[in-house]
Amino acid sequence: MSKKIAFGIDIGGSGIKGAPVDLTTGEFAEERTRIPTPDPSTPEAVAEVLYELVDTYDLPADAPIGVAFPAPIHHGTVRFIANLDPSWTGVDIPALIHRTTGRAAIAVNDADAAGIAELRYGAARDADGVVLVSTLGTGIGSALFADGVLLPNTELGHLEIDGHDAEKRAAESARDRENLSWDEWAERLQRYFAVVEDLLSPDLVVVGGGVSKKHDKFLPKLHLRAPIVPAQLRNAAGIVGAAALAADSAGGQTGAGAQSTRGQSTGD
Ligand code: BGC
Repeated sequence: MSKKIAFGIDIGGSGIKGAPVDLTTGEFAEERTRIPTPDPSTPEAVAEVLYELVDTYDLPADAPIGVAFPAPIHHGTVRFIANLDPSWTGVDIPALIHRTTGRAAIAVNDADAAGIAELRYGAARDADGVVLVSTLGTGIGSALFADGVLLPNTELGHLEIDGHDAEKRAAESARDRENLSWDEWAERLQRYFAVVEDLLSPDLVVVGGGVSKKHDKFLPKLHLRAPIVPAQLRNAAGIVGAAALAADSAGGQTGAGAQSTRGQSTGD
C-alpha cells in the first residue's frame, strides 16, 4: 500500500508550522518546520511564510494542502479574528494561497482541525456520542462532534461567562499573562467547562493545546460529569487534522463543512 500524504499547516499567534502527514498513521512523514509568525501578522506577510514553508518540501504539484487557522472559517473565508491582525477578516484563505503559491488548498478552523485529528488518530479515536475537543492556547478553541460528525466553527471560547469573553479569563495565555497558579487557573477552567457542559452535555471532553502535555497539573483538579482527558496529538493536531481534511477534499468531500470525521483517510 503506498503512503497517503497530505501537507498540513497550522497558523498560530507565535508560530506557523507545517509538515507532510502520513494519513495512514496520522504521523508526520517528514520533520515539521516552524517559522515565527510575522509581526504584524497581516495576510500578505503570513502568505509569504506559507510560500516559504511549502517550498521547504519536495511536494508533488497536486499534493493536498490544508491550513488550520485561528478563526471561524466559513467556506474558506475568515469571519472574524481575535488573535491575529484584524485585516484577516473577510480574507478568502484558499484564494490567498493560490495567488501566493499557485497551489490549491483548503482552510479550516484550527480547533476543528485538531478535533478531527483527535477523533481519527488520538484521544477520541472513533468515539461516538457528543465529543468536545477544547484547545487551550492564546485563545480557547472548540470542536464539537456528534457521532463523529463535526459541527464546524462553534467558537465556544467566546462564550460570555460572568461578564467576560471566556478565553480572556481561561486560555493558557491568561495563565501566563496574569501569572496564575495551577490552582487559580484550574478554578477558571472549572467555571468554563461547567458552563459548556451544562449547555452541551458532552459524553467526552478532550483538552488539547501545548499545555496539555502538563495535564497532570490541572486536569485532575477539574470535575465534570463527563470524562475529561488530555489530547494525544497535542501541538501536532492542527497540522494533522488540516492535512486529513485536505485529503478528504481532494477525494471529493467538502473542506470544512459538517462532515464525518471517519472520512476517507482511514482504512484504504
Ligand atoms: C478563535 C477561534 C480559535 C481559538 C483557538 C479563538 O480566539 O476565535 O477561532 O479556534 O481562538 O485558536
